[in-house]
Amino acid sequence: MMNNKHTLKIVTLASSLVLPTIAVSGEVEVLHWWTAGGEAKSVAVLKDMMEQQGHSWKDFAVAGGGGESAMTVLKTRAVSGNPPSAAQIKGHDIQEWGNLGFLTTLDDVAKKEKWDSILPSVVTKVMKHKGDYVAVPVNVHRVNWLWANPVVLEKSGATVPTSMDDFFVQAEKIKKAGYIALAHGGQPWQDATIFEAVALDVLGSKDYRKAFVDLNMTVLSGPKMVEVFTKFKRVHDYIDSNSPGRDWNVATSMVINGEAAMQIMGDWAKGEFTAAGKVPGTDYICAPAPGTEGQFTFNIDSFAFFDLGDKSNEQAQKDLARTILTKDFQEIFNLNKGSIPVRLDMDMSKFDQCALDSMATFKSSAKSGDLVPSMAHGLSTTSYAQGAIYDVVTNFFNDKSADPTKAADKLARAVKSAM
Ligand code: BGC
Repeated sequence: MMNNKHTLKIVTLASSLVLPTIAVSGEVEVLHWWTAGGEAKSVAVLKDMMEQQGHSWKDFAVAGGGGESAMTVLKTRAVSGNPPSAAQIKGHDIQEWGNLGFLTTLDDVAKKEKWDSILPSVVTKVMKHKGDYVAVPVNVHRVNWLWANPVVLEKSGATVPTSMDDFFVQAEKIKKAGYIALAHGGQPWQDATIFEAVALDVLGSKDYRKAFVDLNMTVLSGPKMVEVFTKFKRVHDYIDSNSPGRDWNVATSMVINGEAAMQIMGDWAKGEFTAAGKVPGTDYICAPAPGTEGQFTFNIDSFAFFDLGDKSNEQAQKDLARTILTKDFQEIFNLNKGSIPVRLDMDMSKFDQCALDSMATFKSSAKSGDLVPSMAHGLSTTSYAQGAIYDVVTNFFNDKSADPTKAADKLARAVKSAM
């Protein structure tokens, strides 16, 4: 018979040999809406890195740009007591989920990995609920971009527009030359993405913030907002009649293949150009959305982490959180996704000119007051106010006879009722 000493030795030996791998491996179920070409390549990087650590990845992808469908599905799962380990949740939604008591704290990982010092404070604010980290940022997307096909511009005798007024001049030339001037998908979040770009130009950063962060009624219903709606309406003259319902990546492919000249879209569109093997400066142009040079509408993708009943997968959850902010992941993921790393201490030598411009503007706009949160992508206000704005914007854009003055008034009233 073995004495206790021997038993102890064997157990110690066994745990040092076997336990570390067995004890740490677990499963993460991750909800996201990254199903387009560049997006899928990006999320595959995270899956691979988790599998390399011995964990298994249960993919919970819900298609639909902007994530509205994903959020609906998430609510059903969470309410039935079966949330995923982590879900792509952004901005104010993180606070809403935190307030409902669904999220778990990541503070031990955050402390060990020094998140407070590697991340900009504009980002950490969004990731914390009542002072605790409950979410991890993945990237920084700039939303106010214009993507253009240089061949189509040249054939039309057009140039990259530098203001909304100039946009109409150039778009007219492109239309006359027989091309679609602006590739667009008629879905509420895409309408809102163009609307906020126009608003950024017309209102300027200060009033943009007053309107979409402070929800200031005077700005929401004021004369400058009427001008925003007036210009937004004119944009409709330059999209094609097949745009209703079109996915954003299909619109991007129209710029890639030369059917359309331009698209106003966040830099996840660059992920599509990259996946198609296209090079910026040669095959396509990235420029600030008309009239928004030096301004930066930010959209930070992040994963919020759920409090799991099953504790056996907690380690996998923590490893997922840690992996997301490693330099290796930040580099490969963001090269594919079109965004810039959320860590400011990264070597950017592998990134292209669009990403370098984005990083430079991210930093300079933070100093000049031109760094503003995206309304269309859930960073500036609650999902309730955002939903109210979406409704007014989309209804207006799709109604030929809609009146800009009435729309501004409606906008203020809709936001007020959602406050
Ligand atoms: C997300 C991006 C995503 C895009 C299109 C945005 O709201 O932040 O990560 O690529 O929607 O689905």
